[in-house]
Amino acid sequence: MVKTKIKINKTKSSRLNDVNFDNIQFGRVFSDHMFVADYADGEWKNFEILPFQNLDYNPAFNSLHYGQSVFEGMKAHLDSDNNVVLFRPMDNFARLNRSCERLCMATIDPQIMLDGLSELVKIDKEWIPKTEEGALYIRPFIFATDQYIGVAPSETYKMVIFTCPVNKYYDTAVKVKVEDVYSRAASGGTGFAKAAGNYAASLLPAKIAKEEGYDQLIWTDSIEHKYIEESGTMNLMVIIDGKIITPPAGETILGGITRKSVIDIARDLGYPVEVRQISVDEVIEAQQNGTLEDMFGTGTAVTITHISGFGRSGVDYNLPPVSERKISSHLKNELEAIKRNKKDTYPEWLVIVK
Ligand code: COI
Repeated sequence: MVKTKIKINKTKSSRLNDVNFDNIQFGRVFSDHMFVADYADGEWKNFEILPFQNLDYNPAFNSLHYGQSVFEGMKAHLDSDNNVVLFRPMDNFARLNRSCERLCMATIDPQIMLDGLSELVKIDKEWIPKTEEGALYIRPFIFATDQYIGVAPSETYKMVIFTCPVNKYYDTAVKVKVEDVYSRAASGGTGFAKAAGNYAASLLPAKIAKEEGYDQLIWTDSIEHKYIEESGTMNLMVIIDGKIITPPAGETILGGITRKSVIDIARDLGYPVEVRQISVDEVIEAQQNGTLEDMFGTGTAVTITHISGFGRSGVDYNLPPVSERKISSHLKNELEAIKRNKKDTYPEWLVIVK
């Protein structure tokens, strides 16, 4: 096991006492420190934990122009012994590398990431909210730093991990619009990667949906706009007649770590799960014949978020009240308990930082 040599430079003036943990806007409050590294001459180096601060950037950084920039989202919680618990961190670092490979960027040894993150969360442990729905959101990312105007893979990169204390991402169930004009991803593209540009391309359609009274989108396949793919901030699952159905992650659908955890938890609890294509027509038909029991999103930031209703081509369809959604509420409670080390059902999913 690599034990990465990390230079540590702690802040002399913590901002912790300025934070009201009961009232934090998601992603707008940053913990005291960050872990950084540089890639040059074919290797990662300069591993350092330092006070959260601005980075130097050059206007010619090619990530700014050609989009070589990828990221991850993870969470840490405290367990009842006050240890920091990381949820499936190596899965996130493996996905970060898959994103890097697709964007022709330098990959990084997942053990280096885990060593750096473990040090970081130990140093900023007091930033982990103790509120019921709170967590320390972790944002690892890598971007190209060659200073060069020309479309070519960068030969230098920066890696940063910073963290944010957070509460819920969405306060209530969300109303979603089935998108049938714009596409998030196409076969052969970057849909499976957590590439910054994927999110940029989603902003205009999401803004239009907001203007029409929806909170988010449901993306559909780019060829026929017939099959459900994912939502802007989460993977999607529907429950029809007691069966949990979710489209297969793959080329155009992000391989969500919460998604695959929920599938395993649901199956182990005895709920039937079908991983298969599901058309918007099938969901509408189920809504109309009364067998559509639930629709929800899964993701690190959103955990499990209920969908209150959906719209297609200007027609809105309601879902049962959240209080009746027993299966997804059960799955959410299980997932949250596992992430806080309150259950020993999946010990291999947790890294306990002592
Ligand atoms: C996450 O769930 O971690 C994401 O990256 C989604 C983003 C909308 C916050």
